[in-house]
Amino acid sequence: MQALRVVPKVFYFDTFKEFNDEFKIGKDDLLVTNEWMYTPYVAPLGIDTNVILQEKFGSGEPSDEMINAMAAEMKKYNFKRIIAFGGGTIVDICKVLALDVPEQSVDLFTGKVPPKKIKELVVVPTTCGTGSEVTNVAIAELKSLHTKKGIAVEETYADTAVLVPETVKGLPYKFFVTSSIDALIHAIESYLSPKASPFTEMYSLKAIEMIMAGYKEVVAKGEDERLKYLKDFVLASNYAGIAFGNAGCAAVHALSYSIGAAFHVAHGEANYQFFTEVFKMYMRKNPDGKIKQANKIFADILGCTDGPEVYDELEKFLNKLIVKKPLKDYGMTEAQIDEFTKSTVENQQRLLANNYVPLSDAEIREIFANLY
Ligand SMILES: [Fe+2]
Repeated sequence: MQALRVVPKVFYFDTFKEFNDEFKIGKDDLLVTNEWMYTPYVAPLGIDTNVILQEKFGSGEPSDEMINAMAAEMKKYNFKRIIAFGGGTIVDICKVLALDVPEQSVDLFTGKVPPKKIKELVVVPTTCGTGSEVTNVAIAELKSLHTKKGIAVEETYADTAVLVPETVKGLPYKFFVTSSIDALIHAIESYLSPKASPFTEMYSLKAIEMIMAGYKEVVAKGEDERLKYLKDFVLASNYAGIAFGNAGCAAVHALSYSIGAAFHVAHGEANYQFFTEVFKMYMRKNPDGKIKQANKIFADILGCTDGPEVYDELEKFLNKLIVKKPLKDYGMTEAQIDEFTKSTVENQQRLLANNYVPLSDAEIREIFANLY
């Protein structure tokens, strides 16, 4: 069994200036970013390069329409390297833009057109959660097909991932919390995945430790305290990305896609709604396996005992950062308990295969019903 693979080269710099000093962004590059990142970090350095501001092509999560429009705009420039400098939307879009994009980008997602990489891709993430800089997954809403779909092939890996904690400074507190909680869930789901290896476990554990330690400080001293720990959060998010890029995510992600898609709930927030409930179910099914080690890690950090109650304590703790609320508050109806169970079972087997213990359809339904 393959134990670990990290495809992009990984670089680390404290500041954007240090990154630019080494990578020398210039006329042979296309910088894809947002105005709110360009103004504080790129403009002061007087960098002369080709720039596409993503927000001019739509807001929210990536869509095939957005990719089509940006691919058309891209054709106006001559460049060899794409620098994706932004959050999850920009990173995912650029994984596709580095390919030879057909007129209808949806054809890449459906497999009608095989992926061919034609540009070098450098990813500089500006949130601390997705770990997308080291994975090959790019997810987009395919408006033409009324669905959300991912592409994950060898060609959608970045060539280089660059971590620059300074660039996460401006991330609003709410997005800091939702993105880092996503990273925490990547770390714990990959830790318990049957595909985990001693190498991925090391990355998972370190990520959990760093995120929980940072959260403790934020809970104790207030939201601005996070600014002291951005380096830890950026590294932890990347470690968790390496871990789940190899060992996979599982039920929390699988179930959360339902409400994420139906009610446009932010990915990290949607995950959090399912996190502790899935783990309580795991505990009911097999409290004596590897989950014991996970319980001990959380119990040690939270200063509680490591039985099933650890997930109530964890929830109490995380609720100080992000609120768990009934799914009906997002607009879910009782009938959707069955509907979402069915769609999760039908569409998310790729993730459900990584569950700590297999969950039956009835158990998945029970989780939705408990959270409704
Ligand atoms: Fe995630």
